[in-house]
Amino acid sequence: MKKLTISLAVFGALFSLGSHLAHAAPDWGNVPKRDIQVFHPGVTSHEWVMKKSEHSGRTGLVKGESCIGCHEGKNGLDIDLKKLSSKDWEPVGAPKTMIFPVSVQAAFDDDNLYMRLTFKAPADSAPGASREDASPMHEVKVAVMLASPQVEHAAQQGCWAACHNDVRSMPGADPKKKKYIEHGELAGGVFYDYMQWKSGEAGKGATQVDGYVAGERVNKGGKALIKAEGENRDGTYTVTFTRKLAGNSSDGDLSFTPGQTIPFGVAIHTDKTVWRFHHVSMGYTLGLRAPGDVKAIKQ
Ligand code: HEC
Repeated sequence: MKKLTISLAVFGALFSLGSHLAHAAPDWGNVPKRDIQVFHPGVTSHEWVMKKSEHSGRTGLVKGESCIGCHEGKNGLDIDLKKLSSKDWEPVGAPKTMIFPVSVQAAFDDDNLYMRLTFKAPADSAPGASREDASPMHEVKVAVMLASPQVEHAAQQGCWAACHNDVRSMPGADPKKKKYIEHGELAGGVFYDYMQWKSGEAGKGATQVDGYVAGERVNKGGKALIKAEGENRDGTYTVTFTRKLAGNSSDGDLSFTPGQTIPFGVAIHTDKTVWRFHHVSMGYTLGLRAPGDVKAIKQ
């Protein structure tokens, strides 16, 4: 009799462990890494990228080529960083570290999508007036923008579709104008779903943002982001996003299902910089049991 009770107890414990694991964070050690690079883009905007006299890549873009189709090779990004750090391209002052690698991992289960970014944050990104002088100051901010299939050219252009010449901190632009996408609107599902982790100030904890970019950028309203967590070990940051697969576009949340390829871009602010003074990725895709630059592993 005693034996039976014990085995029932063990069975019960295993059972609850099993159901708990179904929703647990992934074992990241078993999730493949895709290394991408983020770089300081200077004042290159959507308009710049699409102007033939400035950027010969426009011809390829019109034909359907992606940014990384031309700019990414075996040894990472092929991009003229010297040019991008010069006065014409970065009038405020370029960061010393123009480019750095970020390891991206992704997994999903029946309910959630998990994304994890690992990188060494440069501490020399804020020359000139690129620093936030108002409180709170966040040493590091990490954002992922996931694009709806309705955003035109999102898979090709990544975040550039949301970056325009008239957006604040671009030369001569309105200091209040936030980033936006053309024809963006929640109702038609034409938006980027945007999640961000911000490191805390001394004594204060880190915070998270679940927003979107449609006709303008909105830093709230999202309900899909369950948590954004970050850890800093000697300057190496590991940031993990846990997000529900389901979401309502009226909240600025996209809904994802297996079989889908999701365009995304990454933006990282380091050294307390703000606005466009970030390092950004070109456009990549995330495959939920589907083709993608980053393949999300099913748990
Ligand atoms: C068809 C190939 C092609 C595509 C697609 C392409 N580019 Fe380029 N890009 C180039 C070439 C070639 C140059 C260098 C000469 C020039 O500016 O025309 C360049 C230059 C640049 C530069 C300036 C730094 C440098 O290396 O000269 C940036 C920034 C840039 N591209 C960003 C982008 C982004 C962002 C996208 C996607 C929205 C993109 N490119 C798509 C070919 C391409």
